[in-house]
Amino acid sequence: NIEAQNARESLYIVSEYAANYFANEMWAGEQGRAIGLSYFKERGFREDIVKKFQLGYSPDVWDALIQSAVAAGHKEEYLEKTGLSIRNDKGKLYDRFRGRVMFPIHNFTGRVIGFGGRTLKTDKNVPKYVNSPESDIYHKSNVLYGLYHAKKAIRDTDNCYLVEGYADVLAVHQAGIENVVASSGTSLTTEQIRLIGRFSQNVTILYDGDAAGIKASLRGLDMILEEGLNVKVVLFPDGHDPDSYMHHVGSGEFKKYIENNRKDFILYKASILLKEAGTDPIKRAGIIRDIVESIAKIPDDIKASIFIRECSGLLQVEERILLSELNKIRTAKF
Ligand code: UTP
Ligand code: MN
Ligand code: MN
Ligand code: MN
Ligand code: MN
Repeated sequence: NIEAQNARESLYIVSEYAANYFANEMWAGEQGRAIGLSYFKERGFREDIVKKFQLGYSPDVWDALIQSAVAAGHKEEYLEKTGLSIRNDKGKLYDRFRGRVMFPIHNFTGRVIGFGGRTLKTDKNVPKYVNSPESDIYHKSNVLYGLYHAKKAIRDTDNCYLVEGYADVLAVHQAGIENVVASSGTSLTTEQIRLIGRFSQNVTILYDGDAAGIKASLRGLDMILEEGLNVKVVLFPDGHDPDSYMHHVGSGEFKKYIENNRKDFILYKASILLKEAGTDPIKRAGIIRDIVESIAKIPDDIKASIFIRECSGLLQVEERILLSELNKIRTAKF
């Protein structure tokens, strides 16, 4: 209906205004240049990347955005409905994002629908990122950060790199790889995988090389298989994430690393689980079952049988045993 559409349009407009305001503060504001822009430069991000992703800075003031937006004719109602502003118990309106560098989140047609704001403080008690809440234009489980800037490259290369964070998207872009998105601010959802599937059937996971990232990658790859997409994984060394690793080794080495360390999900899962199991034979048997459980998620029987054969060779288990295990799991599901 027209009224709801108009109300949503107002949220898009005020979000676009805010993105321009934050960007202008960073490039032209005194605090913004000294604090915000320097922050990105110190992290090794080039100006063209900062501009491309419309990054910005929110001044460390209670109501800087509100003042500017209202003076420009925007209604408080819409600032509140996008979550850019928050009303306290006393009815006073204040800015959600203060003293943070700002990452606008675009939908895949390029409209600004929300924000992530990173603190510049190293204080562990301050949340590192603050994100926009759900609104009539922002449903985080349906959104992939960077998709607008990546979709053409995802189609052209027929592959989508999936990272954890905002900074990872920027860093991978800066390395010259544009087919990259993040499931920022939420763990990967089925809707996000289906969104990728509109552009390519191939996903390569580049999550953080820490315990949390490895755990999330195992969960993510099962979900991706379940949606019928193909999945590979690259593990980064020493707790690095794509952003820290790219800046650590440089873009040339980074690209080579990704090319040379891309593993299909069976090889990846086996290498992770075998490391955990050590030489314990019972644990090693559990791994075989665990891998067959992933294969059982693949809807296409022909693909599944190819992976059964690979698994058999890799783990030195007869194909016939793996197939009977596969059938047990599949029967149990129905
Ligand atoms: P990480 O903790 O790995 O942060 O969270 P990061 O992306 O490497 O951040 P930098 O490099 O220190 O700037 C990964 C992602 O999880 C979400 C953000 O989207 C972040 O990019 N996150 C993290 C939050 O939403 N809130 C948080 O407090 C932390
Ligand atoms: Mn809605
Ligand atoms: Mn992490
Ligand atoms: Mn990280
Ligand atoms: Mn990082």
